[in-house]
Amino acid sequence: MKVISSLDDAKSFINDHKSDETISLIPTMGNIHSGHLKLINSASSSSLKIVSIYVNELQFDDRNDYISYPRTLADDLSICEDNNVDLVFAPDNSVICKQLDSDKNDLPKFTSYMCGANRPGHFSGVFRIVKFLFKIIEPNYAYFGKKDFQQLLLVKYIASTYFPKLKIIDVDTVRDSNNIALSSRLSKVSRESLHQVKLIFQTLMIMKKKLLSGLEYNDVKESSLLDLEDNNISVEYLDLRSLETLKEQVNINHPCGIFIACYIDNIRLIDNIEI
Ligand code: PAF
Repeated sequence: MKVISSLDDAKSFINDHKSDETISLIPTMGNIHSGHLKLINSASSSSLKIVSIYVNELQFDDRNDYISYPRTLADDLSICEDNNVDLVFAPDNSVICKQLDSDKNDLPKFTSYMCGANRPGHFSGVFRIVKFLFKIIEPNYAYFGKKDFQQLLLVKYIASTYFPKLKIIDVDTVRDSNNIALSSRLSKVSRESLHQVKLIFQTLMIMKKKLLSGLEYNDVKESSLLDLEDNNISVEYLDLRSLETLKEQVNINHPCGIFIACYIDNIRLIDNIEI
C-alpha cells in the first residue's frame, strides 16, 4: 500500500494507473470504523482502491468540533493496509487549502434543508473537497454511505454535473447490535448515554411503522418529539422528506424517508430510515 500526501505525487500515481485500471475512491475524514470498511469492501477487489483521508476544515461550522474531530492516522493506515487498499491519499491542510478556496460552487436547492439549514457553510465545504478529489483522482467509482443521505444526493449532483462518467455507489448504513448507526462522532458520546443513542433509530422505526399503518404524520411526529425530549435528546430536526428532492412531505404517497439530527451529550448525531 502506498501513502501519499503531496498533490504532484498523487497526480503522477493516478497517471501511471488510470489507463489500465478501474479506480475506486472512498473519501473519508479518517477515524476509520466499520462503516468506512463497508465502503472499502464494497469496491471491487480488481479495481485500484484509493482511500482519501482529510479532515476538511471548510465543512465544519463549529471550530471546536473541527479541533476535537478524532484523528487516528496510524490506526487508519494499518486498517487500510489490512483491507487491500492500494493508495491512501492523506494530504495536509496546506496542500489543499489554496486549491479549494478558488472553487465556486453552485449548491442545489436541497442542500438548504436539514443539515444545510443548521450548519452554515457545511455543504459548500463538502462540495469543494469532493469536487477537488474527483478532479485529482479521476475515479470510475466512488463510495458514499446512506447515513449522510443529504451529502449523498449532493455528491450525485456533483458527479452528474461535472463528472458524468463517474458512478456513485450508495452503501447502506452500518449499525451495531443496538441498531446505532456507526459514526466517528459516536466515540465522543459517554458510555452512560449510549442508551439514549439507541432511541434514535428505535424512534425512526416506530414512526415508520405508525405511518405505514395509516396514522397521521403530524401526530406521529409530535409524539416522537415528546418521547425524545423526555429522554433528554435535543432534536434539531425530525422530518419526513422526499428521497429525491428532500422537500418536506406530510404523507407517504411518494418515495420518502424520515431524517433526524439531534444532540446527545452535546454531540450532534444524524440518522435516517427509508419508507
Ligand atoms: O462523509 C465524510 O466523511 C466527508 O463529508 C467527506 C465526504 C469525506 C468529505 O470531507
